[in-house]
Amino acid sequence: MGIQIAPSMLSADFANLEAEAARVAGADWLHVDVMDNHFVPNLTIGVPVVEALAKVARQPIDAHLMIEEPDRWAPAYVEAGARSVTFHVEAARAPVRLAREIRAQGARASMALRPATPIEPYEDLLPELHMVLLMTVEPGFGGQAFLDVCLPKIRRTRELLDKQGGDIWLQVDGGISAVTIDRSGGAGGGVFVAGSAVFGADDPDAMVARLRERAEAHRPG
Ligand code: DX5
Ligand code: ZN
Repeated sequence: MGIQIAPSMLSADFANLEAEAARVAGADWLHVDVMDNHFVPNLTIGVPVVEALAKVARQPIDAHLMIEEPDRWAPAYVEAGARSVTFHVEAARAPVRLAREIRAQGARASMALRPATPIEPYEDLLPELHMVLLMTVEPGFGGQAFLDVCLPKIRRTRELLDKQGGDIWLQVDGGISAVTIDRSGGAGGGVFVAGSAVFGADDPDAMVARLRERAEAHRPG
């Protein structure tokens, strides 16, 4: 799988989501950050908005659930039209059951880890997943600085995924810019979420292309 870029709609104009999606026509996904004010100290959007955006956007929706009780709520995001649904392993009660449920509904199932959550305890779960999301900022807000302390975990996760042999994607989310994508790409990231870097640019779609080029250029191996 080639490098993929997923602009985070958290940094888009919430009053014009359809138009904002059209400004990143070259993006592979639209990353939608769902926050419940419990798992993270911020409240964003939920099922109805995902449903509305999925109907008008040309790109598939990548829903990142930063919420408590994802076991209870994740299926509604698949029903709303999200093609990829990511739950946080710190919040999931039964991550294997949840991943299987998301897959059975026909979406891609993905597991996210906060910066301080190690990947190793979850190695045996990897075959259940289509993607692992590694947070490179504390979840909750856009526009934070990339945490270099997460780079070794990106490398170790890449190794674990390669060992699995399948095609499990590795997504990196938080503080990604045309500068930090060099090192997160070099460490083995394959799907990059970028909010402020993309929607803060004069030409968001040109930034999507630039991020993709830089990640391709720094790809290991
Ligand atoms: C943070 C979200 C990210 C955020 C990224 O909790 O998960 O997706 O929108 O924004 P930037 O790219 O600005 O760090
Ligand atoms: Zn996110």
